Amino acid sequence: MLEIKNLHVDLEEEDKTILKGVNLTVEAGKVHAIMGPNGSGKSTLSYVLSGRDGYKVTQGSATLSGVDLLDMEPEERAAAGLFLAFQYPVEIPGVGNMTFLRTAVNAQRKARGEDEMSAADFLKLVREKAKTLQIDAEMLKRPVNVGFSGGEKKRNEILQMAMLEPKMCILDETDSGLDVDAMKLVADGVNALRDPGRGFLVITHYQRLLDHIKPDVVHIMSDGRIIKTGGPDLALEVEQNGYADILSEGV
Ligand SMILES: Nc1ncnc2c1ncn2[C@@H]1O[C@H](COP(=O)(O)OP(=O)(O)OP(=O)(O)O)[C@@H](O)[C@H]1O
Ligand SMILES: [Mg+2]
Repeated sequence: MLEIKNLHVDLEEEDKTILKGVNLTVEAGKVHAIMGPNGSGKSTLSYVLSGRDGYKVTQGSATLSGVDLLDMEPEERAAAGLFLAFQYPVEIPGVGNMTFLRTAVNAQRKARGEDEMSAADFLKLVREKAKTLQIDAEMLKRPVNVGFSGGEKKRNEILQMAMLEPKMCILDETDSGLDVDAMKLVADGVNALRDPGRGFLVITHYQRLLDHIKPDVVHIMSDGRIIKTGGPDLALEVEQNGYADILSEGV
């Protein structure tokens, strides 16, 4: 599904290489987790895949179901089925949460050649999904993420994901800042979307999230590369021993 080969990325503004040959394949139906020390390039990888400005791909490729992602505009990538839940969700003053969701859902439907969803159907669906994430009606009316608490923003990202039903979901530290109950809600939201046709890339620092979202594969990223890949046990090893042993093996 998502295939990243030998991806090298520099910053556009300064002469600095962040990703130094990332190789990663996420198969449909699988959940892959990425862990790794601060500053190792995890968020950069997610930004580059989603098409954020400021990065220059100098080598390598990234495809989704065989289609080149790196050539597309961000909205084309979204239409192709890629979704990124941000580490720091953006606030959009002046745009109501509900309006934003409806526009996004209908843009995707249009890109797939489907009709727009009726106002009534949309309302029913968004209320149902919001309820399971304990997002109340008032939060749906407020401008996107404006004044939302950290945890509310993260839940709102999952609501967007649930509404868009993307093929490939990337979650960047969606667990950070969540209280224990909210983490369970978010994990349940992700698990509800697990599907043989959908892939997940879950970036996290904590094994705790992976207790709820059981990953098939765990990768460790360090200094712009994936240096170790294993099963769920690898996350437990990191939780217990930190990165020192793994980093020294990788050299
Ligand atoms: N615009 C920028 N200017 C300078 N350095 C940058 C810029 N963007 C990213 N970097 C650097 O790139 C490296 C990778 O950053 P990135 O945010 O991808 O790390 P991360 O693995 O997501 O870390 P964390 O676990 O703390 O979220 C860091 O050293 C960061 O300082
Ligand atoms: Mg990050």
